[in-house]
Amino acid sequence: MDDQRKETILFVDDEESILNVVTDFFKRQGYRIRTAVNGVEAMKIIGNEKVDCCFTDINMPVMNGLDLAENIRLHDNTMPVIVMTGYPSLENTIQTIKNGVVDFLIKPVSLKQMELCMRRVLRQRGLFIENVLLKEEVRSKERLEKLNQELLYKVDELNMLNKIMSSFTSIVSSADVFKRAVDIALEITHADHTMFHIINEAVKQPFEVASAVTPPTQIGDKHTQNHQSPRPKSNGGQPAVDQSSILDLIMEVVSDEIPLLISQNNGVRGLPTDLLSAMLVPLKIRDKVFGILTAGIREGDNRFSEKDLYYLSFMAQSAAQSIENLALYENIYENLFATLYAFVNAVEARDLYTRQHSSRVTGISLIIGKHLGCNVEELDVLNFAGHLHDIGKIGIRDDILLKPGRLTDEEFEKIKQHPAIGANILEQLGMWEKERQIIRCHHERFDGTGYPDGLKEKQIPFLARILSVADVYDAMASDRAYRKRMEERIILKVIHEGSGSQFDPDIVSAFDAVYQQGIILRYMETGQMEDIERVHPS
Ligand SMILES: [Fe+2]
Repeated sequence: MDDQRKETILFVDDEESILNVVTDFFKRQGYRIRTAVNGVEAMKIIGNEKVDCCFTDINMPVMNGLDLAENIRLHDNTMPVIVMTGYPSLENTIQTIKNGVVDFLIKPVSLKQMELCMRRVLRQRGLFIENVLLKEEVRSKERLEKLNQELLYKVDELNMLNKIMSSFTSIVSSADVFKRAVDIALEITHADHTMFHIINEAVKQPFEVASAVTPPTQIGDKHTQNHQSPRPKSNGGQPAVDQSSILDLIMEVVSDEIPLLISQNNGVRGLPTDLLSAMLVPLKIRDKVFGILTAGIREGDNRFSEKDLYYLSFMAQSAAQSIENLALYENIYENLFATLYAFVNAVEARDLYTRQHSSRVTGISLIIGKHLGCNVEELDVLNFAGHLHDIGKIGIRDDILLKPGRLTDEEFEKIKQHPAIGANILEQLGMWEKERQIIRCHHERFDGTGYPDGLKEKQIPFLARILSVADVYDAMASDRAYRKRMEERIILKVIHEGSGSQFDPDIVSAFDAVYQQGIILRYMETGQMEDIERVHPS
């Protein structure tokens, strides 16, 4: 035990005789001893050196023992202070305890009693410090763990936000955005169903445009069933959620304009009890709500949290942004198309006889294209390219373009430039690569003797081969400045003779098929398209 008796003990008493006695005794026990005759002196010592324990009298001049105890507590709350007094009162006792005094000895005190008391409080202090250190260690470990958790959370969050953002960057139509939104919502929130409603200005009624469902057997899997329809359909065996109460809730979010989280459905909002947890997030464009994204949980223990709502809200913002950009783009696209179309009209207007030529060529091309089983995208390309195929004629002088008689070789060379000029106009706009190719190739011939590039057979884009037949047919079937429309019999003869030389034989066969059904002639008369029987292109 001797090696532990190296602590410094401070004795504070205004009676020097007492100080002498205790100094003698405790020095012999091996302790380092400091003494002071009042509180101020004691604080000076404490300020200068390390003191492990302090014995103090209460009644002293300058600063009494209770004030000293309070000062010590403020300076170092781990230092034990033992108060000794000859006249204990209840008031004093309470005050000493308030001031952080750890023990109380009543004079006269035996030296042995003092030593026992001191050893006890020092032992307690040791335990206290150890405890504080341990707690500090635990705290710093916890802090580290928390930081680590936060870091992981942030990385997780960043990944999720990136994923959400990149999900909407590759989208090309507004309809895709709705579908993508319900799919992503299902994935990030682990909902078992998600819906997207658009708010219809006219009827003020939410209108479902997309939904996604995780089938009950696959909850937690990434596979989803999707559909886009005006009304919800069968959703993998789960009972449909009562639509009317959901619609009420949607209208509530529309008017509040803020996301709604119902973590645990207690039926308070009139929601069906089989809907355990729900989130509704408004999508706004220019501060106006135009749609609501809803996510719901109908089974399992998972419930939506604030974090889920945060992700869903972020996703709704990304989706809204994407829709706004697309609307802007679609608007520009339509404007541009209208401008180009005006160009074509201007070209056709120069020549009385070619009015509506591009429009009819488009119609005939679409009839052939549909018969050959072209998909929607191909028909869209054909529609665009058909209307604009002669746009390059805007670069040909009137005296050549409108010349009634036969063209000189030089004049014909000029005319032959129009497919390339047309393609160049579109190239300047930096888009419609497929349409551009078709416009460039609409005067190519199947045997490679056409212009401008002399491409042959499959080198010529499929849709350009269709356009070529339609173009020639309409040119022969309508009046020209220099001749009347040709007889139908002769037109067909020219087309048949051109099969394999000017035209792709398969396209000629397709033309024949729709022609024989009377579809072409009826279209030429009425300008109306009919349902076409589709065959697959060989
Ligand atoms: Fe042409």
